[in-house]
Amino acid sequence: MRVQAVFSPEALTSGALAGRIALVIDVLRASTTIATALANGAQAIVPCGNPEEARARLAEMPPGEGLLGGERRALRLAGFALGNSPLEYTGERVGQRIIFYTTTNGTRALLAAREAVEVGVAAFVNVTAATRWARAAGRDLMIICAGDQGGFSMEDAACGGMVIERLHTMGLTLALDDAARAASLLYRASAARIPELLAESKWGRRLREGGLGPDVVACGQIDRLDGVPVLTGDRIILAPRAAARGAAGTDAVGG
Ligand code: MLT
Repeated sequence: MRVQAVFSPEALTSGALAGRIALVIDVLRASTTIATALANGAQAIVPCGNPEEARARLAEMPPGEGLLGGERRALRLAGFALGNSPLEYTGERVGQRIIFYTTTNGTRALLAAREAVEVGVAAFVNVTAATRWARAAGRDLMIICAGDQGGFSMEDAACGGMVIERLHTMGLTLALDDAARAASLLYRASAARIPELLAESKWGRRLREGGLGPDVVACGQIDRLDGVPVLTGDRIILAPRAAARGAAGTDAVGG
């Protein structure tokens, strides 16, 4: 399997996703929040390019079926029911609802990934399930880190490196480009201290300074979930369990 990585969606070149699957990673916090919302029974997440689009999409829905969620500068948007904390997306709040969702970097990365053959969402909370999903797809993989407005985010790269490490462990022969190799090296250097890496990262510090330390902790809980969000048309739903469990379909997600 060929594995490539980009550290922000802006680094994707034209045609880079042709024939490939993509895993989109925004550990702090969009991909963690999406995985959590779907695990807690949300019907779907609809990534929207901006708050106006999210509001317009919600207005097309029968009352009570949809919710607005997301952030700018880590804060809940005016008129939105939900911010971007995974801890807000409880079954009680999001069960059966469609969430029209917009965030600074995560939804941009998701929208940029649409050219891929299949698009999955990975975070530390579902990293093993996402790796099995990628293996089962049986195609070359592009890891798309959301980064920070075109820049590098350590936690996304480390999570991409953990996917690569898991693929190695599953016995796949991998051809890595330099970015994927760098992600792999970063993960190997920090494997024993992922929660600390999140806390020390630029965005992790910003969240903690804003009183959102519990979110940073929640985003570092490895393999807490076994579902894989996948983009289907304009919305993200959970992959059918057989696909999420990989070709052999026998593995349970462990620590
Ligand atoms: C983003 O999409 O940039 C983030 O998920 C920001 C955040 O932590 O809310």
